[in-house]
Amino acid sequence: MNSMQRTVYCGEVSNQMENQKIILNGWVNKRRDHGGLIFVDLRDRSGIIQVVFNEELSKETLEVAESIRTEYVLAIKGRVVARAAEAVNDKMATGEIEVICDEIEVLNKAKTPVFEISDDVKVDENIRLKHRYLDLRRPEMQQNMILRHQVTMEMRKFLDAKGFLEIETPMLTKSTPEGARDYLVPSRVNPGEFFALPQSPQIFKQILMVSGMEKYFQIARCFRDEDLRADRQPEFTQLDMEMSFVKQEDIISLIEEMMGQIFSSTLDRTLADSFPIITYQDAMTRYGSDSPDLRFGMELTSISDLVAESEFKVFASVVKNGGQIKGIKAPGCATYSRRDVDALMEVTSTYGAKGLAWIAYGAEGIKSPIKKFLSDEEMAGIKERMGAEEGDLLLFVADSPSVVAAALGALRLEFGRRLGLMDQDELNFCWVVDFPLFEYDEESSRYVAIHHMFTAPKDEDLSLLESDPLAVRAKAYDLILNGIELGGGSIRIHQKEMQQKIFDLIGFTKEEAIEKFGFMLDAFEYGAPPHGGVAFGLDRMIMLMRNCDSIRDVIAFPKTQSASDLMVNAPSPVVEKQLEELFIKTTVSNK
Ligand code: AMO
Ligand code: AMP
Repeated sequence: MNSMQRTVYCGEVSNQMENQKIILNGWVNKRRDHGGLIFVDLRDRSGIIQVVFNEELSKETLEVAESIRTEYVLAIKGRVVARAAEAVNDKMATGEIEVICDEIEVLNKAKTPVFEISDDVKVDENIRLKHRYLDLRRPEMQQNMILRHQVTMEMRKFLDAKGFLEIETPMLTKSTPEGARDYLVPSRVNPGEFFALPQSPQIFKQILMVSGMEKYFQIARCFRDEDLRADRQPEFTQLDMEMSFVKQEDIISLIEEMMGQIFSSTLDRTLADSFPIITYQDAMTRYGSDSPDLRFGMELTSISDLVAESEFKVFASVVKNGGQIKGIKAPGCATYSRRDVDALMEVTSTYGAKGLAWIAYGAEGIKSPIKKFLSDEEMAGIKERMGAEEGDLLLFVADSPSVVAAALGALRLEFGRRLGLMDQDELNFCWVVDFPLFEYDEESSRYVAIHHMFTAPKDEDLSLLESDPLAVRAKAYDLILNGIELGGGSIRIHQKEMQQKIFDLIGFTKEEAIEKFGFMLDAFEYGAPPHGGVAFGLDRMIMLMRNCDSIRDVIAFPKTQSASDLMVNAPSPVVEKQLEELFIKTTVSNK
C-alpha cells in the first residue's frame, strides 16, 4: 500500500495532466471486458475515471483486471492520456481522458453489492438503510454529506466572525420544554431515577446568557420521541443560537446575513438582503398556514359576509355560529367532475371539513351543487369577490376558522403541486412573526405555550395576559423556506416575576415550577440580561438545499418511520443483568 498511495482523486484528474504518472485509490464502479481490453470505471468520493487495461501494454495487469469485480477496492498506477475523439464521453466529467494502467493492486475484494451503487437506484428504502455503507457510496448521498459539511463549516465561520462562542451542553439532562415526549436514560448510580435526553438545549443556552457568555451557538443534537414524518427524526440536529442584549430585529437581520453567506458560498445562490415578514394572523388568513409557501398566490378569500343571510342553510348557520366560509380559485380546473371533487374532499376531510362546496365556470355554463340554494345576487357577488372567469373552479369550506384554514391551506398546497405552481428552483424565504403566546388545549383544559414557556409576550399585549391570554402575541418568529419551517426562536423572558406568571397561566403549581425550573427562576434573580435566540433544523435545511424528499437522505445514519436503526438493529432487547443493574423491570415479555 505504501508505494501505491493516491496522488490524485479520480474526479480531479484533468486533461492538464496528460502524460503524467498518477496513482488512484478507489472502488470499481463498473468493469467492461472486451477480451484483451478491459475498461474499469474507478470511483472515489470525487467522481469516476476510466482506467484501461490492455494486453499489449501488460499481460500481467490484464490478468488481474480479469479477476476484479464491482466494488473491489483498487490501487492503480498509470498514465493520463487523452481519449480518441470517438471515445470521448460527454456524460462524464472526466470523459475526455483515461488512465492507462501500469500497475494494479487489489486492496480488497467485495461481494456483489446488494444493490447497484448508482443514483437511479430503485430499491426499497429499508434495504438501503440496512446496508447504509453501500447506500452512502452513491454519488448523490456523498454530495448530500459534502454539502452538509460545507454548510456547518460556513455556519461556524460566520458565527465565529460575529463573536459567537461554540459551547457544548449536556446530553444527559432533565426534561426540556419543547412539548414532545422525552427519551429517558436510567441512572445506575441513582436507582429509580432517570435522565432525559435534551429535546433542545433551550434551558442551557438561556443559563449561558445569565452566565455572561453573550453570544452562544452549538450544532446540537436534539431528541424528540414524536410521530415521525418525512421531515422529522427522533434524533436530529439544530444550529442553536442565543444572544444577550438583542431585539427581534437584530436576530432577524443576523440570520438573513448568515443565510445569504451560506447559500452564496455553498450553492452559489444570491438571496435577497432581507426576507418578507408576514404576521401569523396574516399567514393564517391568506394562506391557511403558519408556514406559508409563498412561491404561488391562490390566497384564501372570505365570502362569509356575502352568504351570511343565504337560503343555503349550511353557510348561513356556520356564519351565525361564529364560523366562516372561505374559498380558493383553481384556474383551469372547471372541467373537474363530481368524482374529482369528491377525491379532493379526502384532503379536506382529514382536517375536519364536513363538506366541500364548489362552483365550476365551464364552457357550457356554471356547474355547482350549491347553485340552486344561492340567489343570483349571491352568485354574482361570489364570482366578483373571487375574480372567477371561464375555466375556473371555486372550492369552499364552511367551518370554524381553524378548520377552514387547515382544510383550505392543505387544498391550496394540493393545487400548487397539481398545477405546477411551486418552482423547484426558487428559494422563497419569509419570516412569520407575532405568533399567539398561548393556545388552549381542550384535552387538558389549560393554556399551553405555542413556542415554549420561556418566550416573552409582546410589550403592547402585556395588559391582556390575565384578561384575555389567547389574544396575547409573542415575541416569536419562524423562518420559512418554500413552505417548510426551517427554524424558530423568540425573545425570552428574563425576569422572575414574568416567568412565574407564565408558569401560573399554563397551570404549573408553585411546587411544580420550582421542581422543574427552580434553578432558572433562581438564576433570573442574579442579573439575567435581556436575551433571545433561534434554532434551525440543519437536516431540513440540507434537505431543501439538495431538493431531497426526506431528511433521511441527508442524515448519515437515520432512523426509519418506526424509529429504529436497521443497520445496527436498534433499539433491541438487553440482557436481564443489565436491567437489574439499572433497577429496571420491563412489563413486556421478550421472546
Ligand atoms: P423548535 O422546536 O421550533 O424550536 O425547533 C427548531 C427547528 O428544529 C427543527 N426540528 C426538527 N427537525 C427534524 N426532526 C424533528 N423531529 C424536528 N423538530 C424540530 C425544525 C424546527 O424549526 N429551543 C427552540 C428554539 C429557540 O427558541 O431558540 C426549539 O427547539 O426545523
Ligand atoms: P348537502 O346539501 O349537505 O348535500 O350539501 C351541498 C353541498 O355543500 C355539497 O357539495 C357539500 O359538499 C357542501 N357542503 C356541505 N357542508 C359543507 C361545509 N361545511 N363546507 C363546505 N361545503 C359544504
